[in-house]
Amino acid sequence: FHVDWDLVTAEKAGFDHFMLKEIHEQPKAYRDTMMGRIGADGKSVTLSKEIGMTTEQIRGISRVHIVACGTAFHAGLVGKTVIESLARIPVETDVASEYRYRSPIITPDTLVIVVSQSGETADTLAALREAKRNGARVLAITNVVGSSVARDADDVITTWAGPEIAVASTKAYSSQLIAFYLLGLYLAQERGTIEQAQVAEIVEAMHRLPDQVESILEQAELYKGVAEAVSKHDNLFFIGRGLDFAVAQEGSLKLKEISYIHSEAYAAGELKHGTLALIEDGIPVIALVTQEDLYEKTLSNIKEVKARGAHVLGIANAGYEDEVAKSVDETFSIPRTLPLLTPALSVVPLQLLSYHASLARGNDVDKPRNLAKSVTVE
Ligand code: G6P
Repeated sequence: FHVDWDLVTAEKAGFDHFMLKEIHEQPKAYRDTMMGRIGADGKSVTLSKEIGMTTEQIRGISRVHIVACGTAFHAGLVGKTVIESLARIPVETDVASEYRYRSPIITPDTLVIVVSQSGETADTLAALREAKRNGARVLAITNVVGSSVARDADDVITTWAGPEIAVASTKAYSSQLIAFYLLGLYLAQERGTIEQAQVAEIVEAMHRLPDQVESILEQAELYKGVAEAVSKHDNLFFIGRGLDFAVAQEGSLKLKEISYIHSEAYAAGELKHGTLALIEDGIPVIALVTQEDLYEKTLSNIKEVKARGAHVLGIANAGYEDEVAKSVDETFSIPRTLPLLTPALSVVPLQLLSYHASLARGNDVDKPRNLAKSVTVE
């Protein structure tokens, strides 16, 4: 009697690739990352086990620097908006390879947040050490307990996404977003910049996110056809405003990493200052239109690219898809949540799109050329 199996197939748990498995693990990753960090009454966030700062120290933070590489940096872009809007602390974001060399203004009341899935990225680790040398307090958001980043930081928020094998990060990124929401709420509570009712509203919406991701995943096949069409192009654009722009940057990186298609993410309002010259007949433009207060503005940017022949795929909130459909060629809807939380949903269609585009091009989805999961050299 002989059983034919191999460990890798077993580890993929029925999925064709680790990336697809990890995309599907996001609801669990969200729940696990929130677990134990939200008060039983659902009205407060507790990070006192993770963060050793006193209320006084938290109130004394004058600025935040978020430093990371690649996808983790993109999570930091969302983190900036979250912390600024909830805790009202000015935040700067830097890619780690730039941070050390621009002589950033680091003071003892600077909180430096490093974000790293692996906790071993050389540039991120070097930035962390530079920040500490300058007397800053360092908080790490990492997926690996006991990693170098976790060991060297003063405070650590672990993302409980579980092991991520695919080189292209999916569940680690989205769990980093959850960590930033928790952190933003916690800092805001401690600094007194948020009402309890608002914490309760955000927390309630966060609890709905796992099921909402599930509902996007139930329609995962929707993205196959559009990915196949996209895979025939050599260039495309992602556009959005505000948090949609932050997610657009991650969507563009994901597509580049595994499909090898050139793409760029643009702040929708910036197109007219140059990039519009690149828009020609049939070029795909993926437009994120989830920020309701910026909705009209983004639609008017979509009209600018449509008028020049672009083929526009819109990602819109449920309830708005009919309206958006009037301005785009194809619409994909995501469940409605609070504007601040939409990145945790809107990134999922972009992950699926990249996955299917990579497959359609016959690439090695989990191990893209020239890239490593963890870059431990500078
Ligand atoms: C590599 C990976 C990326 C990742 C980046 C940062 O370039 O290919 O997917 O985003 O490193 O990794 P980290 O482990 O620090 O989050």
